[in-house]
Amino acid sequence: FYEMPMITPRICGICPVSHHLASVKACDAVAGVKPPRTASLLRELMHMGQMIQSHSMHFFHLAGPDLLLGFDADPAIRNVAGIVQANPALALKAVELRKYGQEIIRLLGEKKVHPRFAVPGGVNHALSAKDRDTILTNADRMIGYIQEGIAIAKDWLDQNRDLVEAFANFRSSYMGLVHEGNGLELYNGQLRLIDKDGRQLAKFPPCDYLEHIGEHVEDWSYLKFPFYKKMGWPEGTYRVAPLARLNVADKIDTPLANEEFKKFKALSRGPVEQSLYFHYARLIEDLYAVERVKQILDDPDILSTDIVTPSKGLTGEGIGCIEAPRGVLIHHYKTDERGLLTKVNLIVSTGHNNWAMNKAVNLVAKAFVNGKKLTEGMLNRVEAAIRCYDPCLSCSTHAWGEMPLVLELRSADGDLLDRMERS
Ligand code: NI
Repeated sequence: FYEMPMITPRICGICPVSHHLASVKACDAVAGVKPPRTASLLRELMHMGQMIQSHSMHFFHLAGPDLLLGFDADPAIRNVAGIVQANPALALKAVELRKYGQEIIRLLGEKKVHPRFAVPGGVNHALSAKDRDTILTNADRMIGYIQEGIAIAKDWLDQNRDLVEAFANFRSSYMGLVHEGNGLELYNGQLRLIDKDGRQLAKFPPCDYLEHIGEHVEDWSYLKFPFYKKMGWPEGTYRVAPLARLNVADKIDTPLANEEFKKFKALSRGPVEQSLYFHYARLIEDLYAVERVKQILDDPDILSTDIVTPSKGLTGEGIGCIEAPRGVLIHHYKTDERGLLTKVNLIVSTGHNNWAMNKAVNLVAKAFVNGKKLTEGMLNRVEAAIRCYDPCLSCSTHAWGEMPLVLELRSADGDLLDRMERS
């Protein structure tokens, strides 16, 4: 089990830190230890680095081209190169922002991808004053960049109000981690589930996940469909990730993100339902992540060398949970008395949103695909519905070779009108 924090990050090159940390939390429980406070803070610091790099890349590089260049822009320029041409200063800031997150990961874990840092019971080295100061020096500039992104997202959402209302807008339950006072939590805390109207359905420690979360299987998908057991399938489906996390939280514990959070909450009397608001929610979390970096680095214990608790004996079972950028991530291990793994179960972030992404594709296809010919703009809108959820398919599915994507446009009578294939 001791090797799992190094093995499981190989699942993915985008989310390695998330697996590294969810895994080590499961290992803490197997080893029967609670890491020292400084070790938990340092792990959370690395987690914030992952949030910043992933959220910033998603908004500015992956979703940004749709918003800044338009859904119907030529696909040859509807990408990061197009952003560089259209707004070079913004593109540079986006690169710097992502690099800032990656540097936090590298300073702690030696590498930007697949870091070596967390070990069962703590972390493998303390933070130096020099590295702390390096990270702190640039934090306020990064906050400014994210605020610029927030202004762009809000302007776009305001100017495209009709589209936002018509685009993958549906009611659902939501799940995410919160702390005791129901504030946003990305590293610790309890899982909170709310219903379509915002009422709390359940709040439970992640180690009880099997009592609350079931997984439905369909023969047409490589991905499973998690649902809230008490409500059954499909009534118990829910959404996770930025929109869900802000919907289940009552506040954010950093000042700038909380101010923005209040504006987000004012968008709706109940939960905010429109899929395109994922982009706004993601940037509010990005802002929180940099503010949280500052809080952690200002903590008087942060340079302490008390960073690992030794294990006195194995418990044989452990469950670790964090909020990865793409939602709730659960690692569950069982071992024999020597610590050899006998059972492993992962529920990966993107999987929780499987039902929601299918729903979003269905709604957007019905609303925006029409006529007898498939056009690039129509298909891009369908893709953009998925992009709201920022899925990571290398984390969440088992696929081999190239995705065999075939699209068919059929009339109401079922006649084939048009067909496209990935070549
Ligand atoms: Ni991933």
